[in-house]
Amino acid sequence: TVVQRLDYTAPAFWIETVELAFDLDPAKTRVLNKMQVRRNPEVPAQPLRLDGEDLNLARVLVNGSGTSFKLDGGQLVLENLPEGPEPFALEIFTTCAPLKNTQLSGLYVSQETFFTQCEAQGFRRITYFLDRPDVMASYSVLLRADKAHYPVLLSNGNLVESGDLDDGRHFARWHDPHKKPSYLFALVAGKLVAREQKITSRTGKEHLLQVWVRPGDLEKTEHAMRSLMHAIAWDEARFGLPLDLERFMIVATSDFNMGAMENKGLNIFNTKYVLANQATATDADFANIESVVGHEYFHNWTGNRITCRDWFQLSLKEGLTVFRDQEFSMDMAGSASARAVKRIEDVRVLRTVQFAEDAGPMAHPVRPDSYVEINNFYTVTIYEKGAEVVRMQHNLVGKDGFAQGMKLYFERFDGQAVTCDDFVQAMADANPASPLAQHLDAFKRWYSQAGTPTVHASGVFDAQAQTYTLTLRQSCPATPGQSASAKQPFVIPVTLGLLDGQGKALPLQLQGLNVGTEHTLVLHQEEQAWTFTGITSQPTPSLLRSLSAPVLLDYPFTEAELLTLLAHDSDAFNRWEAAQRLSLRIATNAIAATAETATEKEQNPANLLPQSVVDALRLVLEHPQLDAAFKELVLTLPSESYIAEQLDSVDPQRIHSVREAMRRQLALALQPQWQAAYEAHAHTGAYQPEPIAAGRRALAGLALNMLCLAAQGDGVWAGKAYQRVKDAGNMTDKANALQALVQSASPLASNALDYFYRQLRHEPLVLDKWFALQAAAPDVQGSVLPAVKALLKHPDFVLKNPNRARSLVFTYCNANPGGFHRLDAAGYIFWADHVLALDAINPQMAARLARALDRWQKLAPPYREAAREAIARVAAKADLSNDVREVVARALGE
Ligand code: ARG
Ligand code: ZN
Repeated sequence: TVVQRLDYTAPAFWIETVELAFDLDPAKTRVLNKMQVRRNPEVPAQPLRLDGEDLNLARVLVNGSGTSFKLDGGQLVLENLPEGPEPFALEIFTTCAPLKNTQLSGLYVSQETFFTQCEAQGFRRITYFLDRPDVMASYSVLLRADKAHYPVLLSNGNLVESGDLDDGRHFARWHDPHKKPSYLFALVAGKLVAREQKITSRTGKEHLLQVWVRPGDLEKTEHAMRSLMHAIAWDEARFGLPLDLERFMIVATSDFNMGAMENKGLNIFNTKYVLANQATATDADFANIESVVGHEYFHNWTGNRITCRDWFQLSLKEGLTVFRDQEFSMDMAGSASARAVKRIEDVRVLRTVQFAEDAGPMAHPVRPDSYVEINNFYTVTIYEKGAEVVRMQHNLVGKDGFAQGMKLYFERFDGQAVTCDDFVQAMADANPASPLAQHLDAFKRWYSQAGTPTVHASGVFDAQAQTYTLTLRQSCPATPGQSASAKQPFVIPVTLGLLDGQGKALPLQLQGLNVGTEHTLVLHQEEQAWTFTGITSQPTPSLLRSLSAPVLLDYPFTEAELLTLLAHDSDAFNRWEAAQRLSLRIATNAIAATAETATEKEQNPANLLPQSVVDALRLVLEHPQLDAAFKELVLTLPSESYIAEQLDSVDPQRIHSVREAMRRQLALALQPQWQAAYEAHAHTGAYQPEPIAAGRRALAGLALNMLCLAAQGDGVWAGKAYQRVKDAGNMTDKANALQALVQSASPLASNALDYFYRQLRHEPLVLDKWFALQAAAPDVQGSVLPAVKALLKHPDFVLKNPNRARSLVFTYCNANPGGFHRLDAAGYIFWADHVLALDAINPQMAARLARALDRWQKLAPPYREAAREAIARVAAKADLSNDVREVVARALGE
């Protein structure tokens, strides 16, 4: 059944308090749920319908007495309830089976420890409830369990009392001082240990911070704790939002569907985003931990204190919280260059993954209008595009204006469940003179219209009048359920600068006003033009700086203009973007070229990049001032999936071979520079996961990759890489060296993989890397799929464990286009088999894997038909989950 946004109605009952008593047992956990319920006087009288799933119902009491009830499609329906506005007591006794819960939604067991995941609709798998975010209640939780097996008993809020019971059992009673929706409920019980830290906030209040992990993992929690302390300090300093709890806990589990979960006071995390030390985690892991710890912590205000009225508003909390975690990471990174690097990384995800989603069968607005399974809508559109929509508001009202808007948002809505509209309205009301307030209704289209708009730009220089007129026009393609002609103009902030022939920034004059060297134009109609005065020579426009809006830019840059931007633009983002455009254009032309149309260069794939581009990239690589991290980004070619998005007909093998040819050309042409870069950055001293050193390791890693690639046959660099796999003192250098061997298909790769395995086989997160490296290996004579299939039988492979499934199965299907898109369709058959296998275990995971073939319609023959057949085979399965059914039905255009 389809849920529609416009069908929203307020709940007919409110639940004011909840007392939960758990007798935790893996096979059969007993749950006694005592609620105070009252009718919502604003809604016509009707039966109470409580959500439930996979529960065994034993007893229902109303005000202490038995009552009639019925079960209707999972819901518990109560018709004979007390009339009138007074609260009544509703008591429900159920049992569930955590050990059998392989979906990892609700209450489940992982490594002999109990965990919960309730967002979005997992609480109904624990007890019957009004499992919707606008029902906010006060929770008291009593946990009882065997003390030897489950010495630690945690839930939200404050520990009220604890003690021993008969038969070796014990108990703990928790009370959460804040009202919350059911999706924020959590409990944890098991053998865990904590790193603890006491902090005093600016207001003088004391707080206890804890990071709970399995014994043995404690030495890997320092970075997570430090990240949490930074996050707390940052939210207070930047937004005046303090920690509102005496105790704040993070718990790590190795079985988790997503990254982490912001349960009030008791965040539950995938171990991947908690555990790190230099021997097991890469720089990217350290950065992700900081960002995810921040993200979940920031939800305490944006999500928990103010939550979503219904799940269509999911981006209200997710888009805003991603924006906040991005800003946190940038502020922590420090230098302007490190901020730009973070922005480039974020934009890369947005453009490769979100733009693709927005152009495919699962495209949906930031505030969707309908869904079948809400878990399918925890998407890059809700998260990353949602964050861009908040970022545009930030740009339109300014940093201080944004802080004012946040303040007003909390004044108006603290403690409530609200909508995306409520957020923008507060932003606009706090900034009445801003372009956001001026164009508010049009701006809101970012929430309702799906698809990535294109801004078509053209510039005319008039030497006589000394003017430069820039015309911007916008368009947006059709998306499922929304025709192109029905779409109305978006409000698009276009931040720009103009460069003169020497690459110097020109002062900008608009309507006689000096606006500095950088300015944001607000395109809010289909087409608008701006005339800059006092321009004496043909300028080079630097458009959409820092990606000031989540749009595609269509401007006919000449090669000379792009080279100017790459060499001189003051905006680091657009310098990187110029390099991307230069190589992207060459790649797409070469891919499209047929035997007849191919230029001389295109016929000789060893020389696709013109000398001018190679020289420009060499200058970047040798540049004495640029940061290593930035060089690494500029010298990395656009990914195969990003290239594929630019094409109407996708031949994955052709894209792969063209990109590989370009990579090889860069490896050979810049060999001396790669060697110099490697030697300058290979040793970064005592390990610190901070941006400057991390950038140097990243560049050394790319250089080593290129050197191994260039050296094919000659084993010197492969030998050095092998030695580095053995000797490196940190996981970043070690993994990069191993990757260099694997990616260059070196004869030493398999020995290095064995060595790595023997050394680190007892570290689950490192094993994930080991599986992933092999799943992403180059497909030498069709070797990857057989290797992946062999790894499925490896004693360390467990399909049930999401991290392990992602590292092998998802990496192969999503991150190895050359190995996955096979002429014999065996990759697609493998995909279908695993979507079905996972669906029987964990539908959320299965639906995520199902999306690997989202873009099948764009594939060239014979891939297209083979992919369609594989999707149709999945769709034909009779007892498919709603999760997978929705994804494949949409893929097939049903
Ligand atoms: N709210 C969590 C976060 O963004 C994500 C949890 C989603 N879980 C799910 N099963 N859909 O951090
Ligand atoms: Zn979130």
